[in-house]
Amino acid sequence: MIEITINGQPHQLDNVPEDMPLLWVLRDRLHLTGTKFGCGGGFCGACTVHLEGEAVRACQLPIAAVAGRHITTIEGLSADGTHPLQLAWVAEDVPQCGYCQSGQLMSAAAFLHGKPVVNDESITAAMSGNLCRCGTYGRIRRAIKRAAGVEPAREGDA
Ligand code: FES
Ligand code: FES
Repeated sequence: MIEITINGQPHQLDNVPEDMPLLWVLRDRLHLTGTKFGCGGGFCGACTVHLEGEAVRACQLPIAAVAGRHITTIEGLSADGTHPLQLAWVAEDVPQCGYCQSGQLMSAAAFLHGKPVVNDESITAAMSGNLCRCGTYGRIRRAIKRAAGVEPAREGDA
């Protein structure tokens, strides 16, 4: 049996192979489907969750490697969708198809949690592992700045 805490709730997992990726456990065993399967190879960031507050790729983590640890998924980012980044995502109308967006939000949240200097360079460095086939990068950048209170969003920015 593997014990793990997800979004503050303890879980005891029976009949889960030790090498099953965390992403499979989240989606198929616990039905937390906000975390997405993209590439399965650690390249796209769609599966990003927090491990003790740090952004990690759930497709690359065997469940045994995170036993006893605390995981936060997009479902646990806030109780009611009012995390500053979620509000900024809405205000900037960020998503297009939406598939990549929970991973984008989780990477952005881990980035801001570290109280960084927020500018184009630091955002690029923090978000470079999260791909968006719809090309919403400009709006993501504006939303991160809005959430950080760095720079007012400008109408018509790409
Ligand atoms: S699905 Fe995990 S990085 Fe792409
Ligand atoms: S919004 Fe479609 S992949 Fe990012």
